[in-house]
Amino acid sequence: MRNVTKDNITDVFMGYLGEGTDPRLREVMGSLVRHLHAFARETNLTHAEWNMGIQFLERAGEISDKERHEFVLLSDVLGLSSLVDMLHNAPEGTSSSVLGPFHITGSPPLHVGGDLRQDFDAPVLLAEGVVRAPDGSPIPGATLDIWQTAPNGLYSSQDPDQDTYSFHGLQTVGDDGRYAFTTVRPVEYTVPSDGPVGDILRACGRHPWRPSHLHYIVEAEGYKPLVTEVFPEDDPYLDQDTVFGVREDLVMRYETRPAGSFPAEGFALSGKVPEDYLAVTFDLTLVPLG
Ligand code: BEZ
Ligand code: FE
Repeated sequence: MRNVTKDNITDVFMGYLGEGTDPRLREVMGSLVRHLHAFARETNLTHAEWNMGIQFLERAGEISDKERHEFVLLSDVLGLSSLVDMLHNAPEGTSSSVLGPFHITGSPPLHVGGDLRQDFDAPVLLAEGVVRAPDGSPIPGATLDIWQTAPNGLYSSQDPDQDTYSFHGLQTVGDDGRYAFTTVRPVEYTVPSDGPVGDILRACGRHPWRPSHLHYIVEAEGYKPLVTEVFPEDDPYLDQDTVFGVREDLVMRYETRPAGSFPAEGFALSGKVPEDYLAVTFDLTLVPLG
């Protein structure tokens, strides 16, 4: 086509796709370019604005490396990561939520009742629940990959003062499907805002805060892996999570339990928690594969 116009360019693009193009690729690319062209037409995008967008992408590329994923962060703050999650979430299971960029593989085993708090001086949180199938039966042998920030609001990969696997653990449940561990009460924290995504947040009058949460990846043979989070119901950022990760069924009460009531056995901290502590019970429902 030599007479390309602003009105036919979208169709011309579609016509350039080769005969043998994978049908799903044709669908996704076609839709992406249709919406991209529609966006430029609708906003009457100027050269200066287009150029700003290109520079933004270049800066996002430059700042990204093995540990910093600026494009994922962009997708998170635009709500795209959460939308993709919700499009594929099965209603009979626990809601999924954003993975985020701070998960690391190879977490050390954390036995049922084990402790992630270490020597950190922060309120003890006892987290427990049962991993279940949609019919309510426990799923023996399910694994929970658990991670969170330290009380300073930093993940271990962001904080040279923490060990690599600080506040990371991998728990395998027994026949009763029950998981349990102690940790510190998570704190709200900001997503990285010193790069181009931070500039967008500021330009749009948005803050970089996430409500406090524990992250879980739950897996079991024959079930869809679940990437999720649990939030306390009194967090001030619950209704304004900058990455749109909060779902109604992931908001739980962190109950304050009185001094002296910590379980006398079954926990690494049994006999070592003389003060008030917090407890959250969060059952997790996995959906069978296929
Ligand atoms: C997180 O929860 O770890 C996270 C999620 C999205 C962006 C940044 C951090
Ligand atoms: Fe997080």
